[in-house]
Amino acid sequence: MEYLYAQDNLSLGQMAARWVAREILAAPNLVLGLPTGSTPIGMYEYLARLDQEGLISFTQARTFNLDEYVGLTVDHPQSYAYFMREHFWSKVDLPENHVDIPRGDVPDLAVECLRYDEAIRSAGGIGVQILGLGLNGHIGFNEPSHNMEIRTHVVDLTAETIQANTRFFQDSGAVPRQAVTMGVGSIMQADKILLLVSGESKRDILNKTLYGPVNTEVPASVLQLHADLTVLTDIKL
Ligand code: F6R
Repeated sequence: MEYLYAQDNLSLGQMAARWVAREILAAPNLVLGLPTGSTPIGMYEYLARLDQEGLISFTQARTFNLDEYVGLTVDHPQSYAYFMREHFWSKVDLPENHVDIPRGDVPDLAVECLRYDEAIRSAGGIGVQILGLGLNGHIGFNEPSHNMEIRTHVVDLTAETIQANTRFFQDSGAVPRQAVTMGVGSIMQADKILLLVSGESKRDILNKTLYGPVNTEVPASVLQLHADLTVLTDIKL
């Protein structure tokens, strides 16, 4: 594991963007796994700047997002598809047919899960997976549980996650109770993983993730077993 320390959230975004830029320059046809959330916003902003300045290009890259809420259409302002369009897809030269995200608004979610795994498989798997860390240790929406799902699946969000997400919705009743998420197997099969963690509130869970026992109660702890994990954080442990 490599541990990279950023002074603050701003430099975390810049360092993450430079890290990803190096990967794209080395392999322009990279398959990227991408998160949403507050943590990667700075990274997307700097990547868009590097792209607009012509220093990097995503024309040959492909991206797969980790997750999406069940029940929200791609045009819903709180959907992750909307977030990605707003912060990244519309700002860089990624061809429209090179981006993918699970659909949470289709009638048959089981079919959608199979479609998503097949799309990842036929792209050759994830080359670089970027992750945020949930306060409860979730990665994607793989929540603390008695077991770990390997492939893309529908998940019931925990009360803690619903509470954490309430800040984005007008009232807590509007927060979706379920999500579609890439499974832990697809994440762990990535060649490289970059875990982004920002803010004092994540100190305890980052400690458990990196140095606690590997178990399903802290899903991110499984990352300890990955051969090429980089942790980029503004928390000094
Ligand atoms: C979102 C995702 C989640 C977030 C995590 C941290 O696509 O996969 O696991 O990365 O909830 O979110 P923030 O960055 O908002 O603290």
